[in-house]
Amino acid sequence: MFVCLCAGVNERCLRELAEAGCCDWREAMEKTKAGKSCGSCRSHVQTIIQSRGLSSEVGVPVL
Ligand code: FES
Repeated sequence: MFVCLCAGVNERCLRELAEAGCCDWREAMEKTKAGKSCGSCRSHVQTIIQSRGLSSEVGVPVL
């Protein structure tokens, strides 16, 4: 499923980036160009990167 239609970035791409150690959504935006055009997907990019980053660093989500 596409997260960013403007840049053609899908959710799998962002999850793979997070699993590779990227836990900064701004860095993910720079690397993929997601969120760099209209910006409507930025919160979704942030959610995916932050949730994957937390789960890989801590093992459980922090509420
Ligand atoms: S949908 Fe991602 S920048 Fe437009």
